[in-house]
Amino acid sequence: MTVQLYARDVGTGTPLVLLHAFPLSSAMWLEQRQGLANRFRVITPDLRGFGGSRLGGDEPSVDAMADDVAHLFRGIGVRRAVVGGLSMGGYVAMALCRRHPDLVLGVVLASTRAGADTPAARENRLRQADAIDRDGTVQVLLDEVLPGLVGPTTYRQRALVYGRVRGLVQATPPPAAAWAQRAMAARPDAFETLRGLKVPALVMAGDEDTIATEDEARAMADALPNAELLVIPRAGHLCAVEQPDLFNQAVAEFAAALARTTG
Ligand code: MLT
Repeated sequence: MTVQLYARDVGTGTPLVLLHAFPLSSAMWLEQRQGLANRFRVITPDLRGFGGSRLGGDEPSVDAMADDVAHLFRGIGVRRAVVGGLSMGGYVAMALCRRHPDLVLGVVLASTRAGADTPAARENRLRQADAIDRDGTVQVLLDEVLPGLVGPTTYRQRALVYGRVRGLVQATPPPAAAWAQRAMAARPDAFETLRGLKVPALVMAGDEDTIATEDEARAMADALPNAELLVIPRAGHLCAVEQPDLFNQAVAEFAAALARTTG
């Protein structure tokens, strides 16, 4: 059963759908809504369980999250969009490309990876999901995930940005966080999807990211038939939050070029 997603929807022009990272919400795209809505229709959903969207009762899977996004397209009258995802949002964007390719005009994959989890990474996610269920809080994510979300430059020089990210992690409903960790643990390898992608792609990585590395970004760009790769300086995992101007400029150029070629 798909879940009806709450989405912030601002601006007019070519639709640009941005899918958020874990364990955050559409609130992470504040600077993208502000910086891109003068040129595009910027649609930022809360994935199921996060922000204003309810969790639903399905088994955890990124495919269910992608189907929710496809359902949202129909609900708000969007036929095709440039779809961008950061980290978990990238996993969902890749699942959308596999399950609903007709909806995708072009794809932005930021701070994400196409490979499935290693057994150790999967174990770690399931351990964290169990801890969240047991504690009824996301404390384990504050302890273990938050420190890796921004790079050392942001951490040292931009306390307000780090504080905002911390607040978003704290606000995550525990059931959504546990569900999403189990969904990500179960996600399949997406390299085959990338190799078969018919639309252009922009792959981005923060040069200080230790969660999704530059090498993983390069492997995605190599697998994609039509991709450009941009490494964002002085950015960690949340490159869109840490270096919004560079991120927005790259996305705007990519989406504007697509809008020109597709009319
Ligand atoms: C995210 O930022 O969405 C997460 O780091 C994704 C992950 O845990 O693989």
